[in-house]
Parts: sequence; structure tokens; C-alpha cells
Amino acid sequence: MTGGAGFIGVHTVRHLVAEDVTVLVVDDRRHECGEALPPAVELEVADINSSAAAAAVVRFRPDAILHLAAQGGVSRSVRDPVGDALVNVLGTVALLKASADAECRRFVFASSGGAIYGRAARLPTPERTAPKPLAPYGAAKQAAEGYLGMFARTFGMRTLALRYSNVYGPFQDGTGEAGVVAITCERLLSGRAPQIRGDGHQTRDFVFVADVADANVRALRASVTGAINIGTGTATSVRTVVNELAAAAAYSGPIDFDEGRPGEVRDTALDTRRAQTLLGWRAPTPLRDGLSQTFTSFRERTRRATAPSNAGPAGAAATRGPAPRAGSG
Ligand SMILES: NC(=O)c1ccc[n+]([C@@H]2O[C@H](COP(=O)([O-])OP(=O)(O)OC[C@H]3O[C@@H](n4cnc5c(N)ncnc54)[C@H](O)[C@@H]3O)[C@@H](O)[C@H]2O)c1
Repeated sequence: MTGGAGFIGVHTVRHLVAEDVTVLVVDDRRHECGEALPPAVELEVADINSSAAAAAVVRFRPDAILHLAAQGGVSRSVRDPVGDALVNVLGTVALLKASADAECRRFVFASSGGAIYGRAARLPTPERTAPKPLAPYGAAKQAAEGYLGMFARTFGMRTLALRYSNVYGPFQDGTGEAGVVAITCERLLSGRAPQIRGDGHQTRDFVFVADVADANVRALRASVTGAINIGTGTATSVRTVVNELAAAAAYSGPIDFDEGRPGEVRDTALDTRRAQTLLGWRAPTPLRDGLSQTFTSFRERTRRATAPSNAGPAGAAATRGPAPRAGSG
């Protein structure tokens, strides 16, 4: 698994280890989520574009690869499209090549249903909708999917792109530019008013990370190829999410409103019928439960990080590094 030290990665690693799967994580830790990997997991600290990463894959000879490592910031991709493509396009090509060299036929890739479709005419959006991404991040996911298809056709690999919607849950980075759930938890727990960009009536398809980890594991075991949406199919407004989290925090103060992002898609929701049919998967966690679990986890982490007895390295290890990072799209 690449990117196994990140937000979705850590949840998926734990899921796999609980099923006695032997896991190698390749991650250079540039945006690790700060949660420790299970002791049984081997970690190769390497950039996915490096020869060390390719060598580790060939040595490990995996039965299946889950490729999560990515530059995850949509705004960052606009500021630095070349840097984004280096990781999100070329890194994926490097991994596909390493997978072929290791004679690993199963390759599952984390794509983005939120970013790849652009302004879709149809909601919830089915996979057959032609991708029309609006940011370099989405264009890179589309390009990477193109390489997945080519490696399937030419080298007989069984490649699958999972197009996630807006994933939220414990251990997500709340210090960056995206991820309204994590950002709102951080703000509420640091005594700041929640903030909404735009009018808050824009909608997203919020899917809980444990449900996404389950989809990842099912996808690794399955042999279906192509693209599958991973979401709930339900559009929820940003306002609803912020209000739920404020209620969980017993916060009754004001909400700050900031300017919306130009070009931001108004509504997204993914049609998940293919996931149900082909993976036997649907997202079972109700939004309210997922938000409550997420807020509780953020509160516990904040308590651990600020407790005087945890001021040393152990306490520091419970949180991400201090540098603010762009959130994931
Ligand atoms: N979080 C979401 O809502 C969401 C939505 C759609 C798609 N995705 C995709 O899912 C995947 C995982 O997302 P996440 O939210 O867990 O992100 P994350 O940033 O928390 O985790 C990514 C991990 O990849 C590692 N990484 C990044 N670049 C690397 C490189 N060049 N070499 C080695 N390791 C590298 C980071 O250190 C980090 O541990 C990404 O591909 C992302 O684009 C996420």
C-alpha cells in the first residue's frame, strides 16, 4: 500500500491487519496522519517516484497493490500543477511499472469522484459520465486512470480506480485548505468559530473513512476492473455538517462566513450502484454517527496532545507535524 501512513491509509492498514493480511507500506511520510502503524506492518520510507520504492515493491512481491499516495490538495494543484502531476501522474505510472515488474496483477488506485466529473449534469453522478475536471488535481486523476486502462489492456493487469467522494473521519488533517469536517473540528476544539466558505448551501457526498477502508479491502480482493464510485449517493449541505459538529461540541456561538472559491462545483453526489453490485459494498455509517465519532476522536487527540504528562515525544507523536498542509480533495 502506498500512502499507508496517511488518513485513509491508516484506517485501511488496520482493516487489513485485522484480517491477517501481510502489508508493506511505501510512504515518504510527507503528510502522515500521525497515527502509528500496527507493529506487524513493514514501512519503506520512500518517495513513490524513487528507485527504492520500486525495488521494495519488487522485493515484497505483493498479491495486490493499493495506491493511495498522492498530492491531495486541490488548491495546491492549481498553484503548482507540475508538482501535482509529478506525484499524481508520474508517481502512479512508476507504481504501475513496479507492479508489472513484480508480477502483481491487481492494482487499485484512489481516484476522486469529487474532482474528476467537474460540473456533472446528473446527480448522483454515475461512472459512465465523461470526466471534465476543473482543477489540475482532477486532471491528474483522470490521466492516471488512463494509464490504468492502458496497463490493463496491454499488460493484462486487473486495474481498478475507486472514485471516492468527500471522505471524512478520525485522523484527517484539519489544518489545511480542504476537508470541512476536519477543519471544523479543529476550529471548534481550539475555541474558534466554525467557518463556512460561500453560503454553505453547496452540497457534498460525505462518506465515512471506515466505510472507505472496507471498500478498499473489498476492491483488493475482487477482480473487477475500470472505475467504481465510492460514496453515499446523498448530497448534504456544508451548513448541515457544520451545524451537526457545532451541536456535538455544544457550541452555540456565531458561524463565520468567508468568500466562496471561484469555480467551485456547487453540488456533488456519486451514484454508488456499481459498488453495490460489483463489490457488495455500500456505506453503512449514518452521517450523524460518523460526525459524532470524528468529533470525539479529534477531542481525544487534542486532550492527549495538550495533557502536561504527554508534553514529550510520545505526546508529540499523537498529532501531525506543525506545518499546515493542503487538505485532500
Ligand atoms: N480524503 C479525501 O476526501 C479523498 C477524496 C478523493 C480521493 N482521495 C485520494 O485518496 C488518497 C488518500 O488520501 P488521504 O486523504 O488519505 O491523503 P493523505 O494526504 O492523508 O495521505 C497520503 C499519504 O501519501 C503520502 N505521500 C504523498 N506523496 C508521496 C510520495 N510522493 N511518495 C510517498 N508517499 C507519499 C503522504 O505522506 C501520506 O501519508 C489520495 O490518492 C487522494 O487523492 C482522497
